[in-house]
Amino acid sequence: MSQTLSEAEIGTSDPAMLRNSLAELLAESRSRTMELIAPIPVDELFMQQDPLMSPIIWDVGHIGNFEELWLVRHFGGALRPEYDGLYDAMKNPRSTRDKLPLPTYDALLAYLAEVRDRALDHLAVADFDGDDPILREGYLYRMILQHEYQHDETLLATFQLKRGEPYHPARRRELPAGNPAVGGMALVPAGTFWMGTDDRSSAYDNERGRHQVHLDDFMIDIAPVSNGRFMEFVEAGGYRRREYWDDAGWEFINAGGITAPKHWHRDADGVWSTRSMDFVEPVNPRRPVVHVCWHEAVAYCRFVGKRLPTEAEWEKAASWDPATGAQLIYPWGNQPPGRERANLDQRGYMAAEIGAYPSGASPVGCQGMIGDVWEWTASDFAPYPGFQPFPYDEYSNVFFGPDYKVLRGGSWATRPGAIRNTFRNWDYPIRRQIFSGFRCAQDV
Ligand code: AVJ
Ligand code: FE
Repeated sequence: MSQTLSEAEIGTSDPAMLRNSLAELLAESRSRTMELIAPIPVDELFMQQDPLMSPIIWDVGHIGNFEELWLVRHFGGALRPEYDGLYDAMKNPRSTRDKLPLPTYDALLAYLAEVRDRALDHLAVADFDGDDPILREGYLYRMILQHEYQHDETLLATFQLKRGEPYHPARRRELPAGNPAVGGMALVPAGTFWMGTDDRSSAYDNERGRHQVHLDDFMIDIAPVSNGRFMEFVEAGGYRRREYWDDAGWEFINAGGITAPKHWHRDADGVWSTRSMDFVEPVNPRRPVVHVCWHEAVAYCRFVGKRLPTEAEWEKAASWDPATGAQLIYPWGNQPPGRERANLDQRGYMAAEIGAYPSGASPVGCQGMIGDVWEWTASDFAPYPGFQPFPYDEYSNVFFGPDYKVLRGGSWATRPGAIRNTFRNWDYPIRRQIFSGFRCAQDV
């Protein structure tokens, strides 16, 4: 990768332009967070909508507190250290956060504005070319931005689970139609490719360092598994057939009485319908399946005689150009995501039909790798060779190990600045409240 992620996004490495662009991105990011929460009555912001999630207002306060901790304090001085304990994700399990003495809505807005004022003062003088690795190339600001982007996606997962009135989006974007001809598998020929990145302008510690990986020939689905295909598994009794499930998966679906993806409902006539926020439709066989856990993905793969791709396989299929050997930042190349290439950036409020983004295809022909649904991989979340925690242990380091599985590619609810071919997400293999689907792979 010759240019940094920051240069690819803003088109220059000029520090004055970088400063301007970061200021604009900070304003835009906050206005999106506010757009997302605006349709929800204030009392509902403070309620626990689901035991898996924080009260909505907690995420918003935590966004501000994170900006204070990392940006404001980095330059010296503290605004409200008494908030640190409230918004510490490690100290407060999600299900307990509605019991915290959180500031009122108005006090929170004032706090967010105060923090942001200081952040902008610092941005005006920050030295992007000095010795401080967290400031170099604007990384600290990218970290703040990506943190808000990621919590915006968490908010959307909470909205999908909210009790009472479903969430009504303030602004909705029309999604392009799919193409039923898109399907089948691509062959990814054996050989080495570059995995991960050395970027320090935007990438997280867990994406470094860039290293060569050799893979044998393998096949990978051109598109994520559709609702239509997944329905075949459901209708064939896949949730009752022990042989498809790991012990932990079997226990999980039986304890929860799970017989279909989350948010699928079957009416008396046997017709399945589903809901994304306030949009209800009969399960559309042409959209990717979403809200399935890792165990459901693995069970489906066994049903069709396939398996999940490893992280390395997923990344090679997304980023490796067999013609030139180049490593691409996005499946389509190094240009930042636009509306015509991927279903990202939230306002679609659901996954698009498969085949809706032919111009987002990777060199080996895979579609929908970025956007629509996060894709479960076979891999545990583990450090790459030479991993160094940066700038703090609690972003990645404390989560490495066999408890978490890696997801790739982002979803419709992911902001474009928080996704790229090297980006690694992780969650427990039983989680279904995230916007998660998968595609299958196969040995040759
Ligand atoms: C990378 C999505 C697993 O939400 O726990 C937010 C992102 N880290 N604040 C999470 C994150 C700190 C993280 N995930
Ligand atoms: Fe956070």
